[in-house]
Amino acid sequence: MSAGGSFRGSFPQSGDSGSTAGEIPPMVRTSLSPHPSPSLGDELPVADPLPFERPTPEEPVTPVPAEVPLGPTGRPMPAIPEPRPLTEHGHARVVSMCNQKGGVGKTTTTINLGASLAEYGRKVLLVDFDPQGSLSVGLGLNPHEMDLTIYNLLMQRDIDVDDVIVPTGVEGMDLLPSNIDLSAAEVQLVHEVAREQTLQRVLAPALEKYDIVLIDCQPSLGLLTVNALTASDGVIVPLECEYFALRGVALLKTTIDKVRERLNPKLEIDGVLGTMYDGRTLHSREVMDRLVQAWGDKVFHTVIRRTVKFSDSTVAGEPITSYASNSTGAEAYRQLAREVLDRCHDE
Ligand SMILES: Nc1ncnc2c1ncn2[C@@H]1O[C@H](COP(=O)(O)OP(=O)(O)OP(=O)(O)O)[C@@H](O)[C@H]1O
Ligand SMILES: [Mg+2]
Repeated sequence: MSAGGSFRGSFPQSGDSGSTAGEIPPMVRTSLSPHPSPSLGDELPVADPLPFERPTPEEPVTPVPAEVPLGPTGRPMPAIPEPRPLTEHGHARVVSMCNQKGGVGKTTTTINLGASLAEYGRKVLLVDFDPQGSLSVGLGLNPHEMDLTIYNLLMQRDIDVDDVIVPTGVEGMDLLPSNIDLSAAEVQLVHEVAREQTLQRVLAPALEKYDIVLIDCQPSLGLLTVNALTASDGVIVPLECEYFALRGVALLKTTIDKVRERLNPKLEIDGVLGTMYDGRTLHSREVMDRLVQAWGDKVFHTVIRRTVKFSDSTVAGEPITSYASNSTGAEAYRQLAREVLDRCHDE
């Protein structure tokens, strides 16, 4: 190679008819190699083998503990017990799906957790408390064909909760539907006496017929969400495993704390659920680590992985547990149902 840095000689150039032995530069690997090849006759150094002693028969061999498998949250995965069958139903635990960020999986979790709990023999009531009405549409209802919705229940004193409840395609799971009318309630409720307790008051007569009530909140921390939290025993916070999803969680926690202090002392956070998790990306795993750092054992061991089957099942108007019963998504929500029942000491 010339001093000017020409690569002629390193690579064949156009017009080269082939290299002669004199033009071939010395093999770079030879000069860079930290371990020059020994020439014939050199003594090859032989490393001492690690001392290895066989245990004598008298010496007890300490058993190596079987490794506890780590779950997707990076913590050891506990065995989640099968829920026991119920012989009688009643006094429902009310749980809100709450996160003011949109599109994090609140509605998807409400439908599929509800359907999974129903598979385990629980009587479930889903409450669509979002004027978008996605929960009702996701269960196959037409928002324009609803005679009565939760709006009527909240605003008209002569309407009873049983007049508004409709069955769903899932056995053991009913629905309080909603549509855009509910957006007016947020404004009208402002003038009501005990406006934050309105949902709690209208739901009360239904509690004895169900084991669990799941409220699908809208993506805001306004008066409707405060009503949902006031009516609830627990909150589940679905969080997309994505960096921006972590923003705003402090505000959500403050809101939950305020509702507990001022309106509903029994309110507790049942768990934080990682949704749309993609274990192949470092990003998802990092977000999950951050969630566990911030929320500790409140984070459910179950995570919901990202799969297009959820969107498909929404179009079909049914839960994933029936639309794709054997899918990983369906299994994840069944596991979540077991974890929720275990955490809430379901009795
Ligand atoms: N695990 C998942 N994998 C892939 N897509 C998902 C998953 N969970 C939910 N989705 C899809 O993401 C979208 C938003 O989900 P969903 O409606 O449940 O969120 P949300 O929190 O209720 O939204 P909003 O705040 O608008 O009510 C939907 O199209 C849904 O099908
Ligand atoms: Mg929703």
